[in-house]
Amino acid sequence: MQPVLLKPGIHWVGAVDFNLRNFHHYSRSPEGSTYNAYLIQDDKTVLVDTVSHHYFDELVTHISALVEPQKIDYIICNHLEQDHAGVLPRIVELCKPEKIFCSTMGLKSISRQFNTEGWPVVAVKDGERLNIGKRNITFLETRMLHWPDSMVSYVEEDRVLFSNDAFGQNVATSRRFVDEYERPLLLRAMKDYYNNIVLPYSPMVLKTLDRVVQLGIPIDIIAPDHGLIFRTPDDIKFVLDSYRAFAEQKPKLRAVVAYESMWGATESMAFAVGDGLDDEGVPYVLIDMQHNHVSAVMNELADSGALILGSATRNNMPMVNMVALMAHVKGLKPQNLVGASFGAHGWSGEAPRMMAEELASMKVDVVGEPVRAHFGAKAEELAACRELGATVARALKEKVKAFA
Ligand code: FEO
Repeated sequence: MQPVLLKPGIHWVGAVDFNLRNFHHYSRSPEGSTYNAYLIQDDKTVLVDTVSHHYFDELVTHISALVEPQKIDYIICNHLEQDHAGVLPRIVELCKPEKIFCSTMGLKSISRQFNTEGWPVVAVKDGERLNIGKRNITFLETRMLHWPDSMVSYVEEDRVLFSNDAFGQNVATSRRFVDEYERPLLLRAMKDYYNNIVLPYSPMVLKTLDRVVQLGIPIDIIAPDHGLIFRTPDDIKFVLDSYRAFAEQKPKLRAVVAYESMWGATESMAFAVGDGLDDEGVPYVLIDMQHNHVSAVMNELADSGALILGSATRNNMPMVNMVALMAHVKGLKPQNLVGASFGAHGWSGEAPRMMAEELASMKVDVVGEPVRAHFGAKAEELAACRELGATVARALKEKVKAFA
């Protein structure tokens, strides 16, 4: 792979990880990912972000195709998570930069992560401007998008926004630009990334989008640190509009039924819940947690407005994959959902009630009573599940109407 031109004097010099399947435990990445770093060549030579630790050689090869790494004057660290800063000690050792820029919160964390003795680290304030010759770079803090240290860097003259994790996607391809890729696949990757990583910070996303509008910043290119780069007006509008929609989390007329069965009874209840949703004309997806990663549920929730949980009871608890799912969902703080629960048991049967309580603690509107089945689900219990699905569907229709 070669450096890729974004604008005269600005190149992508990052790395593509085609084989990554676990995106640092946030989500699965079946399409791989990339660690995008960028080089700006002006009176000062500036490296914007770096790469994960095992891609040092690739980064240096790409930089070296343009300039001797020792000529780098400035390194901008928009965010200090290891996938963007993992090679920082080796790059600093190699380049001996004149300055390393990070946010004020970045200043607090950089010395905790690395031995920065002798490093010329400079904290920049929100809105601070850096002249590098013919160009000026403005730093904008984006705290908690998605770390306290996060910021973005904007090159005024070229209208390029280096957005770090924001607007990323887990996509590995030999192409670098969104307009060279299929939009439906891109949208799926954007939703997966947003819902499993950015979702809890949605209020900040909305504030940041409003701020960009208020500042009237013209943007030709949005260059994130993961995945493909947005460079056409249509693609830039698409990603900004998509992020607003993701952040608003308006409920959609579709339900997710996630379940974990022990001997099949809870699964038969899940099918009946699906029938009830279908009776009311609400599309749904069934996700068996024994065969799917927790991130698959959050991915599907991006297009839904209801989360229905089913689990057998084991040792007075929901099954372990269901417990993991609830922990994952709770941490991501999804909004505006309707929910319900069900499950089969042999002995005590606490799981449906516990799942309903957990959903309520996530501010999900829980409707209907949890449906329980003692040993195999009999006709009356399957009928109750079908009615539960229909109840959720009716509540969801009302919720969707309220947001219309
Ligand atoms: Fe891509 Fe938060 O690191």
